[in-house]
Amino acid sequence: CTLLQTGCLVRPHVSVHLEPREAPPHSTTLHHPLSALAGFGLCGIPENLINSLLKTGVKRLTAVSNNAGVDDFGLGLLLKTKQIKRMISSYVGENVEFERQYLAGELEVELTPQGTLAERIRAGGAGIPAFFTATGYGTLIQEGGSPIKYNKDGTVAIASEPREVRQFGDRDFIMEKAITGDFALVKAWKADKAGNIIFRKTARNFNQPMCKAAKVTIVEVEEIVDVGTFAEEDIHIPSVYVHRIVKGENYEKRIEAETAKPKKDADVVRERIVRRAALEFEDGMYANLGIGIPMLASNFIKPDISVYLQSENGILGLGPYPTEEEVDADLINAGKETVTVLPGASYFSSDDSFAMIRGGHINLTMLGAMQVSKYGDLANWMIPGKMVKGMGGAMDLVASAGTKVVVTMEHSAKVRQSHKILEKCSLPLTGKGCVDRIITEKAVFDVDRNKGLTLIEVLEGLTPDDIRKCTGADFEVSDACWEM
Ligand SMILES: *[C@@H]1O[C@H](CO)[C@@H](O)[C@H](O)[C@H]1NC(C)=O
Repeated sequence: CTLLQTGCLVRPHVSVHLEPREAPPHSTTLHHPLSALAGFGLCGIPENLINSLLKTGVKRLTAVSNNAGVDDFGLGLLLKTKQIKRMISSYVGENVEFERQYLAGELEVELTPQGTLAERIRAGGAGIPAFFTATGYGTLIQEGGSPIKYNKDGTVAIASEPREVRQFGDRDFIMEKAITGDFALVKAWKADKAGNIIFRKTARNFNQPMCKAAKVTIVEVEEIVDVGTFAEEDIHIPSVYVHRIVKGENYEKRIEAETAKPKKDADVVRERIVRRAALEFEDGMYANLGIGIPMLASNFIKPDISVYLQSENGILGLGPYPTEEEVDADLINAGKETVTVLPGASYFSSDDSFAMIRGGHINLTMLGAMQVSKYGDLANWMIPGKMVKGMGGAMDLVASAGTKVVVTMEHSAKVRQSHKILEKCSLPLTGKGCVDRIITEKAVFDVDRNKGLTLIEVLEGLTPDDIRKCTGADFEVSDACWEM
């Protein structure tokens, strides 16, 4: 391949479609030439490979990458030049051009839950054609019809396929197919001269599974060292998966969301939710916290208890935000903010991280919501035709059987004070019957997927009747209902 021999670099975690070929409507990507580009946000991305791919001008790529960087860095650059035909991603996020091209019908996007994406790539590399997961059951992912491509008039040109459903035990699962790529463009820290690879901190993310899932894996590294420089037992990727190694020239390692200090939150409403949410933590718990209110709640964990925070990009043992000296582009949380870790912490890949989540090893998931129904359905990932941030890891986090799911949100939406707690969600679901507790600035509800809502706490000065007036669903009042 001339492209590669001339030192062109590709990113791990993104799959690129190098041959112009029409994808039939409703198709999955399984049989198309793909390029997989690894990295997470701007962390652990093959900067040099992307720049080289830019220079080739090759078009109509299918790129498998969790997200697309930002407008002017990372994969965002290939979007800008319209070299990508289809993205397979979990998150559109802060990339304005990505969202614009998608909503304008210029780009195909297969939104895939983050853990499912990681496992589809892992399965691809492991020779497993498909697998069953609870993630996405009861949502558009299962039902199909999620827009992959819009027409100019906003109608759906290509919709996602429905998934096969099977019951195992008393739970429902959907079938997801493996992803393999023609090329994997991977960023690693060091390679030895035998082709073994190690990653640094959270820059491992999707790079590790992506290495194994492509016909040609091209790894861009910061250093090529002699064999024996790192020990055999410390190798993350054995040489058999690595076909080309490129030493990258300059690394910008741009930071997407540097947060050297926690923001002082002056907002009374949010502060009230944050402080109440902090009471959910118990000694010895493993918890995954969404960005925003849940993450702020960790500032109020009682000093006499230990809580181990998981970040789905690949950390267990998250510490506080870094000082200016501590900031490290290879150490970020799932919100792409720079972080630190505590003694005893560990790093792992995205497929491992979601095994931890899906496997029920995390005790508590706390996240925000746009809508919650009285039976615990949750909607927080898109407003059709208007706003698409993507589900990221949320569908995986709420689909885990052994994990308590707590929603923290404002009681009503800012727009016209419309209800967020409803009989039935009107927005596309993130999970069905998955929420166990709702915490707002006015009340706390327990949620039972058969019996519905029970009010267990109200804000001082308010009565259950006041709560009824501002809530879009019926609820029971607990005998033990007390002041928040
Ligand atoms: C966390 O979950 C594990 C099971 O995965 C359980 O053994 C442990 O007791 C739980 N800890 C807390 C504090 O809930």
